[in-house]
Parts: sequence; structure tokens; C-alpha cells
Amino acid sequence: MTTASAARPIPASHPAPGDHHVVRRASDLIGGTPLLELARTGAGTRLLLKLEQCNPTGSCKVRMARQMIAEAERDGRLKQGGHIVEPTSGNTGCGLALVALERGYRFTAVVDAHAARDKLRAMVAMGAELVFVEGSADGGPSSVRRRQVAAELAAELGAFHPDQHNNPGNANGYADLAHELLAQLGSIDVLIAALGTGGSLCGTVRELRARGASTRSVAVEPRGSIIFGGPPGVYHQTGAGSPAGFPIGSNVDRSLIDDAHQVADGDAFAAARVVARRTGLLLGGTTGAAIHIGLRHLVDHPAGSTVVVLCNDAGEKYLDSLYDDAWLAQRGVLDELAHRRMDRLFATYDESIRVAELDAGRVA
Ligand SMILES: Cc1ncc(COP(=O)(O)O)c(C=O)c1O
Repeated sequence: MTTASAARPIPASHPAPGDHHVVRRASDLIGGTPLLELARTGAGTRLLLKLEQCNPTGSCKVRMARQMIAEAERDGRLKQGGHIVEPTSGNTGCGLALVALERGYRFTAVVDAHAARDKLRAMVAMGAELVFVEGSADGGPSSVRRRQVAAELAAELGAFHPDQHNNPGNANGYADLAHELLAQLGSIDVLIAALGTGGSLCGTVRELRARGASTRSVAVEPRGSIIFGGPPGVYHQTGAGSPAGFPIGSNVDRSLIDDAHQVADGDAFAAARVVARRTGLLLGGTTGAAIHIGLRHLVDHPAGSTVVVLCNDAGEKYLDSLYDDAWLAQRGVLDELAHRRMDRLFATYDESIRVAELDAGRVA
């Protein structure tokens, strides 16, 4: 266990008059993340990436971490100088670590070895304490055990246990993300995201619809996860999905999910790796899974549709896993064919644009 040094709350930002570009807390940099066009069809349908790795801590989850803490402060569940205990695969933990240090809370993350090592190191760097639980025997996440240990520890210490799977603050934390998308795009036809707690997809779609959008929502989980059924199995995408035996929380709001897909590790990782080579942007494996679905179905949408993939995090946290051929090969998920299929999809869309331009007489 690593011990945090005494945290001193960082005061809220009060920009000097006329100074709109400087903030005094990292959490004031949350949001305003950019969009990148990844692919386009000849019919003008676009696949856009909402680059949530541009948030502090490199993930969308800092949005909900801040919201869960703010709501707990408001209703008295979290008092000045208090202690927060939460199980995490890493990104929620990094978000909680950041907001905890700014506001003077102690934070203990309950983790396992399935988490990306760099997420664990980042939490420690921000002063969080880590409590490790045994990984599951099959090498998958030990989410059930992590959750149980966190609940027990929080009860024993009298700490605040956010319980991200059932905390409404999780989904509420994505209202601003919906507002941003509407401001950036006007309308969004389809939103695709990897599903774990459900907070990011369901929270964003709920707010989009509350603002009058008729966005279709598409949830993506790793093959082997049990949220949408199918046989349980081992998967190596971290952050998304639920292993066998894990109770699905209330933030997975099925009334807000229109389509659901399961994606094998090989396809998810190949998508992320091919995108890295095409764009220079390194994305996480769960984002790769969402892109895999987005690309495969891009032509199915009406001409001119806007399809957005929510990028949960960046690939720099996974350099020693999904960007490492040896790591993939050891786990039997280095899938050369999947890489080629992904390349071919991109090439097909590029070609469809050329054909459309020829049809329109714009190319001599
Ligand atoms: C990398 C990654 N992808 C996907 C998800 C799933 O997001 P949500 O819990 O909002 O459904 C998470 C959640 O922690 C994550 O860290």
C-alpha cells in the first residue's frame, strides 16, 4: 500500500478580470474535448471521434468523478477532510484521485492486476492509496471481489463509497458532454460507446434526448462480458464489460440503449492499432471496440449521417499491452486478419469517396 502525503485543498478558480485562458485547478480543464473525423463514406456519412482522452487524467471518467464528489458534498455524504474508497479498473480511480487531491480528501482505490499498470502508477503519482485484491484465476478482472473489498473497507473506515455502478452522479456527470456535442455538431444521429458502468453512454444519450436530439445509442462490450448476454469468458479490454457473477448496476439503463454489440479482443485491439498507424492517435482497447462497430456499420446509416464514437481513453496507457505484439501473442489475441479487415474497411470508404467525387464530376 502506498501512503499519500497530507492533502491540502486547492482553492477554486477565480480568473482575473479579462483573463479567460488560465485556470488554477486541473479539474477546470475538464470538457471542451475536440472531434476528429476518422472516416467518411461517399454518401457523406461521417465517423467522428470525440477525443475524451484530452480531459485531465486522459479519460472521460474524470467528468463523473467530479460529479459524484460534488453531489456527495452537497448532500452531506462527504465531509471536509473525508476519505473516499472505490473499486476501479483505473480511469475512475484517476479521476477520483485528481478531484480528491484538489479538494483535500484521502482516496483509496481497490484494484487488481487486470488494470493497466500505467493507470495504477498514475493514481499513486496523484497521492492515492492502492489496495490490491487477487486477480481472478482465469486472468480476467476480479470485479466482484474488488467491489466487495471496497464496500467492506469503506464501512470499516467510515469512508464515502461512491459505488459508480449505482450512483446517479455517474450518469449526471456526462450532461456537459451532451451539451458540448450539440454545440459542436448541432445534431448527432448515432452515438457509440464502450459500456462498463453505463454512465458515459446512458448519461450522454439521456441528456441529448432531453435537449430534443433523436440520437440512436449503440453500446459495445467485450466478447465474454455478460451485460447483454452470451457466454461468459475471458477478455482483456479493461474498463468496459462485466465478468460473470457481477451484478449489473442501475447506470446501465437499457431503456436508453438502442443497439448492443460484443467485440472480441482481437478486433478491438486491431482497430486501435490500425487507427494509431493511420492517424498517429493512440486510443485504448475499448475505444478500438467501439470504432470497430462504428466502421463496420457506417454504410448502414442514411446518407449524410453523423456518427460519433466516444473515446474513453488514450492508448499511451496501454503501450505495454495492446500495442505490444508479444503481450497480444501470449494471450492469443494478436489477430493479423483483423488488422487486414480494418485496413480494407478504411480503403473501401476512401474508394467510395473517390467514386462519389467522380460521379459528381469534380475529378477530371
Ligand atoms: C477504458 C474504458 N472504457 C470504457 C469504460 C466504460 O465506461 P462507463 O463506465 O461509463 O460505461 C470505462 C470505464 O471505466 C473505461 O475506463
